[in-house]
Amino acid sequence: MSSDQSATKSFAAVEKVEFPRTNVGKGPVKEAKFLRNTWYVAMFSSDLDEGQLMHRTILNEPILFFRKEDGSVAAIIDRCSHRFAPLSMGKLLPGDRVQCIYHGLEFGADGHCVKNPHGNCSIPNAAHLKSFPVVERHTLVWIWMGDKPADPDKIPDYSCLDDRPELHVTRPGYLNVAANYELVVDNLLDLSHINYVHAGILGNADTVAADVVVEQDGDTVTVSRNCQNAESPGILQMMSPEGFERGDQWNSISWYAPSNLILEFGVSKVGEPKEKGTGYYAIHLLTPETDRTTHYNYTAARWNVLTGDEQNRRIRNNIYEMRTFAFADQDVPVIEAQQIVMDQAGDSVKPVLLSVDVGPARYQRVLDRLMKDEGQ
Ligand code: FES
Ligand SMILES: [Fe+2]
Repeated sequence: MSSDQSATKSFAAVEKVEFPRTNVGKGPVKEAKFLRNTWYVAMFSSDLDEGQLMHRTILNEPILFFRKEDGSVAAIIDRCSHRFAPLSMGKLLPGDRVQCIYHGLEFGADGHCVKNPHGNCSIPNAAHLKSFPVVERHTLVWIWMGDKPADPDKIPDYSCLDDRPELHVTRPGYLNVAANYELVVDNLLDLSHINYVHAGILGNADTVAADVVVEQDGDTVTVSRNCQNAESPGILQMMSPEGFERGDQWNSISWYAPSNLILEFGVSKVGEPKEKGTGYYAIHLLTPETDRTTHYNYTAARWNVLTGDEQNRRIRNNIYEMRTFAFADQDVPVIEAQQIVMDQAGDSVKPVLLSVDVGPARYQRVLDRLMKDEGQ
């Protein structure tokens, strides 16, 4: 059996988790808080076409995105100042102006109301809308939601997505998760769940015994779990040539405050250095939509690709399918069920922390400090 086929076999063998949703919303629901003076991923650059008006709710605020005539992205509140019709239902006019669908007010890319077609055509000050700084970098559209000056140097480093051959990067994935974003970060920074929730695909019995190491560099928290001479999980076997069925595994995930992560996952032959191995960067971009929903954008970029292009085409698709299955059918059902149960309990329960929680506990400390610095 080829490594492609064996990966697909274990992929299909994992069962989906189900949880009844009959108790949704019956418990005391806590209000969420969000860090504002930071960069969030709004979408992949490829999600926003020229001429398109796109709505996305971010941190509970409705935002309209569109491309200006020079190709750069504008973001303004998606709520007309007159009677609150969403501007994303309107029309994009020449000169980077958006016309409201309801009574025709027009707004510029900076949110200023530039035309009132009614009465004496005067424009009240209150008609102007808020706009948000946006930067396109690493194939992503980043938005700054705070009031302090936006600093593009603070955009996390996803240069592994820049100038990659098309066959080495998976197509963009998106899930809308019905849970607060912190539960998704908890999940990603806890590498121990991989061996249970994703047994066969992303982990196995060999990887459960490996020690967890947590490091912090400034506000970046990295959790690693490397292991030697271990059976390679399905996804690594699938993207490697023959001879990598067992090997030394490299598995480390970094969290950039407040909600973007990058996992480096790979395998080298036993005793050989990492540079001779192969693997991928798994990219997880979380953006709070509301207190209880999260935009989850993801992709993956392979490093040190050791397979040929014909195989890479299949591998590219397989990585996307396996990861989408792992998130949508394995992680997300657990996370959404956690949110339901937590909302039922409110403040009456506290989690029992285990050694595997050292990563999530560390990022939570950093996040709490950053929130405090913002006066939250
Ligand atoms: S609601 Fe937009 S112009 Fe009236
Ligand atoms: Fe997971």
